Amino acid sequence: MSVTTSIATASVALARALADSAAEMEDALDTLLPVAEGDEARLYEAMRYSAMGGGKRMRAFLVLEGARQFNVSRTAALRVAAAIEMIHAYSLVHDDLPAMDNDDLRRGKPTNHKAFDEATAILAGDALQCHAFTVLADEETHPDPAVRIELVRAISRAAGPRGMCGGQMLDMMAEQGRIPPEEAAIGRLQTLKTGKLIEVSAEAGAILGKAPAQQRHALLAYGRDLGAAFQIADDILDATASAEDTGKATGKDAGAGKATLVGLLGIERARMQAERLVTQARDHLDAFGERADMLRALADYTISRRS
Ligand code: IPE
Ligand code: IPE
Ligand code: MG
Ligand code: MG
Ligand code: MG
Repeated sequence: MSVTTSIATASVALARALADSAAEMEDALDTLLPVAEGDEARLYEAMRYSAMGGGKRMRAFLVLEGARQFNVSRTAALRVAAAIEMIHAYSLVHDDLPAMDNDDLRRGKPTNHKAFDEATAILAGDALQCHAFTVLADEETHPDPAVRIELVRAISRAAGPRGMCGGQMLDMMAEQGRIPPEEAAIGRLQTLKTGKLIEVSAEAGAILGKAPAQQRHALLAYGRDLGAAFQIADDILDATASAEDTGKATGKDAGAGKATLVGLLGIERARMQAERLVTQARDHLDAFGERADMLRALADYTISRRS
């Protein structure tokens, strides 16, 4: 089989696997998210509105494929994947608020604050995050409390001030010209705002599977490079793709003064940087053999995707 044919075959298999696990994720979220009832029903509706019915479910896929390397039960892996998707959904609800990126379209439908209102969107984001940790801490996620604590520790760190929230702060400061538009500063911003949650998604299966440190670290390193490539690809899509393709407004970053590698280096050099990172990400999987083929294909997809 030629290299091109094998990449094409891998991507067809990946598309099928991504679609299958996205469907499983939808069912898992439907079970795990509270159904609207009582006077606070509007909050539950807003949580389900943003967590369900869309998204590539790439972070979930990372958890599931990572867990597969260590024969972790599907139920456990799905619970952790759902928790991370809830946190991701919360980050998007807040990212879209007028005080942040002020966006009206997300996953092809009105953003949470447009469909509901700002106060509800803030609360839905908060509640999605809290609910994710309720799911993680429940003994159905893993019988060993030490494993559950490790998941809570790693995921809360990835989402907190040393992770996503810290990165979002830097993103806002960069918009105001308070962060130098230099490659190292942009790299740090992106590692925090996007990279950390993707990194822990790749690592989570190893935590669930009580994997040896070396294998856990290899998945983490894979996730780190993948996450960096992923945000560069997102920034390239902002500059080159349509709202029909991505399900969100595009062409906004430059005007908003976002600090991106696309802005600093131009599209072609940013793309080369993302390609280098994808090669590096794949190299971290060398010890895993064929079982990690979907993770390898996912690395390629991260920068070839159009949405
Ligand atoms: C969008 O993430 C936000 C970024 C971190 C760039 P995704 O592109 O994974 O969004 P969904 O989940 O597929 O909608
Ligand atoms: C957002 O980055 C990253 C988050 C932590 C939510 P962007 O602001 O570029 O994400 P999009 O383009 O709105 O999805
Ligand atoms: Mg943003
Ligand atoms: Mg945004
Ligand atoms: Mg973006």
